[in-house]
Amino acid sequence: MTGTSNENSTGQAMMRMTIGIAVLAVLTALLFFVAPDSFYPWAKAIHVIAVISWMAGMLYLPRLFVYHADATKGSVQSETFKVMERRLLRAIINPAMIVTWVFGLWLAWKGFGFQGGWLHAKIAAVLLLSGLHGYLAGTVRKFAEDKNEKPAKHWRIVNEIPTLLMIVIVILVVVKPF
Ligand code: HEM
Repeated sequence: MTGTSNENSTGQAMMRMTIGIAVLAVLTALLFFVAPDSFYPWAKAIHVIAVISWMAGMLYLPRLFVYHADATKGSVQSETFKVMERRLLRAIINPAMIVTWVFGLWLAWKGFGFQGGWLHAKIAAVLLLSGLHGYLAGTVRKFAEDKNEKPAKHWRIVNEIPTLLMIVIVILVVVKPF
């Protein structure tokens, strides 16, 4: 794929992401003003939808790195992985993380006034997940410049971290053990 067509497709992905977030913002504002009493469960629904999208991407991206690490640099396969990784990050993972945080913080404020051991532990675990997000985003850039030196085994291990964090986070918010 040429540099120009890569830039075009990235531009289109960014445009779709911007339109998606704008539509979500307008629908959310409408819901907030039309049905303020039932807004909390709607916000929770949007939060969970965003969480699912974020987690889907966070589980898939390191899996792509596992295969990409074994592909020969400069090969067609390697170039295809670069496009898949960039689109996944920009069109799904980044916007899903933003929506998760915005609605999660609003729920934490509105429903719990930011109080509760489970909530503090959950926010700490989500901060770790966000740190991993940053590491994976940096890795997308490294692969794009053919500068990844880490073996497939490393990415297999990294692939388990979001799963473990997700289990901890869901138990904390559903069971609220402390
Ligand atoms: C970004 C920081 C986050 C904050 C501040 C936050 C906070 C919250 C709050 C306050 C609730 C409402 C709980 C209730 O009404 O009982 C909630 C619901 C939920 N959150 Fe988060 N959350 C965040 C990120 C996440 C992540 C990353 C996940 C999963 C990996 C997640 C999974 C869930 C689930 C499954 C629910 C629904 C729980 C239920 O209805 O019982 N959240 N979140």
